[in-house]
Amino acid sequence: MHQNTAMVQQGQLVRLVELNRKKLTIYINGVATEALEGDTLLTVILTHQKFIRQTEFSGSERAGFCLMGACQDCWVCTEDGSRLRSCSTLVQANMKLVTPKANP
Ligand code: FES
Repeated sequence: MHQNTAMVQQGQLVRLVELNRKKLTIYINGVATEALEGDTLLTVILTHQKFIRQTEFSGSERAGFCLMGACQDCWVCTEDGSRLRSCSTLVQANMKLVTPKANP
C-alpha cells in the first residue's frame, strides 16, 4: 500500500513541496489552524477544508476560480468585519478569519 492512500484528505489542496517554511497559527472560524509563511489565505484555508465559503444566494460551496484577484469568488472576512480576497492576501500570524456561510 502506498503511504498516501492511508491518509485522510481533509482539504481541497495537498502540500507537496516547500514544507520547511516557518509555521504560523491563524484562526479560521475560531479554530487554530497551521499556516506556512508566504501562504495566501486561500492556500491555508483549502489545505484544511474543501471550500472557502458558501454563496449568499444559493448556498453553493466556492473555492476560488481565477486565483489572481479578479473574479471575487474567494472573499473571506476578518473577525472585525474587513473583507479580504483570500487568493491575493498573504497570511499573517494570529489572523482571525471568518469564512462566510449561507443563511440557513
Ligand atoms: S479566486 Fe478570483 S479573486 Fe480570488
